Amino acid sequence: MTKQYANIVVSDTQTPNGLPILKGSIGPDAVDVRTLLGRQNLLTYDPGFRSTASCESAITYIDGEAGQLLYRGYPIEELATRCGFSEVAHLLMYGELPASEQLSGFQCKINEYNLLHDQVLSFYHGFRRDAHPMAVMVGVVGALSAFYQDSQDYSRDEDQHKAAIRLVAKMPAIAAASYTYSIGRPIRHPDNNLDYASNFLQMMFGKPNEPYHVDPVLARAIEMIFILHADHEQNASTSTVRMAASSGANPFACVASGIATLWGPAHGGANEAVLTMLEDIGSPDRIPEIVRRAKDKNDPFRLMGFGHRVYRNYDPRAALIRDTTRQVLAHLGMENSPLMATALELERVALEDDYFIEKKLYPNVDFYSGILLRAMGFPSRMFTAVFAVARTVGWVSHWLELKQQAGHGIDRPRQLYTGPTLRHLDK
Ligand code: CMC
Repeated sequence: MTKQYANIVVSDTQTPNGLPILKGSIGPDAVDVRTLLGRQNLLTYDPGFRSTASCESAITYIDGEAGQLLYRGYPIEELATRCGFSEVAHLLMYGELPASEQLSGFQCKINEYNLLHDQVLSFYHGFRRDAHPMAVMVGVVGALSAFYQDSQDYSRDEDQHKAAIRLVAKMPAIAAASYTYSIGRPIRHPDNNLDYASNFLQMMFGKPNEPYHVDPVLARAIEMIFILHADHEQNASTSTVRMAASSGANPFACVASGIATLWGPAHGGANEAVLTMLEDIGSPDRIPEIVRRAKDKNDPFRLMGFGHRVYRNYDPRAALIRDTTRQVLAHLGMENSPLMATALELERVALEDDYFIEKKLYPNVDFYSGILLRAMGFPSRMFTAVFAVARTVGWVSHWLELKQQAGHGIDRPRQLYTGPTLRHLDK
C-alpha cells in the first residue's frame, strides 16, 4: 500500500478498468476517478452527489445505516451529554478536546472577538424590519469581508485562525441582532461573564433596561442544540463553503454562502417548516390525512423533519433533541404542549407506515428542534438562524481543513451537456 494524501491509503486492488481504490479510516472505500476523463474520455455522472466523496476530511463521520454520528471519532451522544459547546467547538476546529488551559485560552479568544464593529451594527438599518433573519445574516456576514484589512493574508495560519475565531465569536451577536432589530429593540452586547450559550440567550431576550437572569435549564438546552448542529460532514451548506473556499475566496464570504444554502427548506430551513406543518395539522386527528398526502406522488407535500440523505435509521440528534424537548417542556410547565403531542403521534404513525418503513424515513434533527425553540421563546423565523450560529463551527472547521489541503485545488465539476450541438447564425 502506498500513501496518497496525509490520511488516504491506496488499496492494493483496483477496479476492473484499472482505477485506484482509496481507503479512509472507516466507511466505504472510494474509486479514484480523477484520471478517467484523460484515460477513457469518460465522465462520472452523479447529480446530487449521491455516490461521490467530494473531498478528504477528518472532522465528522456518519454511518447512516447504523444511525451513528462521530465528531473527530467521539459519538455525538457522549459529547452532547458530557461536554460544553466550547469544548466541542475546539474539538471540531482543532482536532482534540481541549485541556483546561486550552479551553480557557479558547474562551478568552471568543470573548476578545465577540463584539460587533459599530459600522456593522449600522448595516442592520438598511434592512426592512420584516426581513427574514437569514436574509439579514447572509448580508451582514458577507459584509464582514470588507473588514479586518490587517489580517487578510489567508495563506498564513495566524490569519486563518483569527478569521475562524472571529466568525464563531460574532455569530451569536449577528443572529441576535437580526432578531432584536426586527422587533425594534436596542441590541444587547455580549457579556463576557457568561458562557457562549447563555450569552446568546441574553442577547436574544434581554432588555436594555433590566437585568437578564439566565435560566440554566434553557442555557443547557441551547448548548445541546448548538452541539448537535455544529457539524454534519459534507452537507449542502458545508459543501458550499468548501467550494467557495476552494477558489481562495474570503472566509466571511464563504460562510455567507453557507448561510444562504442552509436557509433552504430541504436543509436548515426544515425546522421552521416542521413547526408550520405541526401548527397546520392542529390536532392529532388530522395525522392520517397528512401522512396520506406525504405518500402521494402527485402531491409535492413532504413530511418535514423526516428523511435524510445519509441516515437510513433514526437520526441520533433527533433522539437527543426529543429528550431535551421533554425536559424543557416539563421545566416550563408545558408538559401538555399540543405541538409535542402532535409531533409524537405523527412520529408514531409514520414509523408504523409501510411507505416510511420501506424508504427508511425517520425523524431527523429538525423534527423536534422547532418545538424546543418555540417553547424557549424563539420565533419560528429565528430557528434556522440558531442552526446557523451552531453550524458556523462546522463551516470554519472545514474551511481550516481545506486551507491545509494543498493538493485539493479549485472545485470545478463537469457536466453531461444536453444542449444544442454546434450550429451557426443564418445571417
Ligand atoms: N416525506 C415523504 N417522502 C419522502 C420524504 C419526506 N420527508 N423524504 C424523502 N421521501 C421519499 C421521496 O419522495 C423519495 O421517494 P421515491 O423514491 O418514491 O421517489 C424517497 O423518499 C427518497 O427521497 P429523496 O428525495 O431521493 O431523498 P434525498 O436524499 O434527496 O432527500 C431530504 C433528503 C432530507 C431532502 C428529504 O428526505 C426531505 O425533503 N425531507 C424533508 C425536509 C427535511 O426534513 N429536511 C431536513 C434534513 S436534516 C437537516 C439538514 O441536513 O439540514
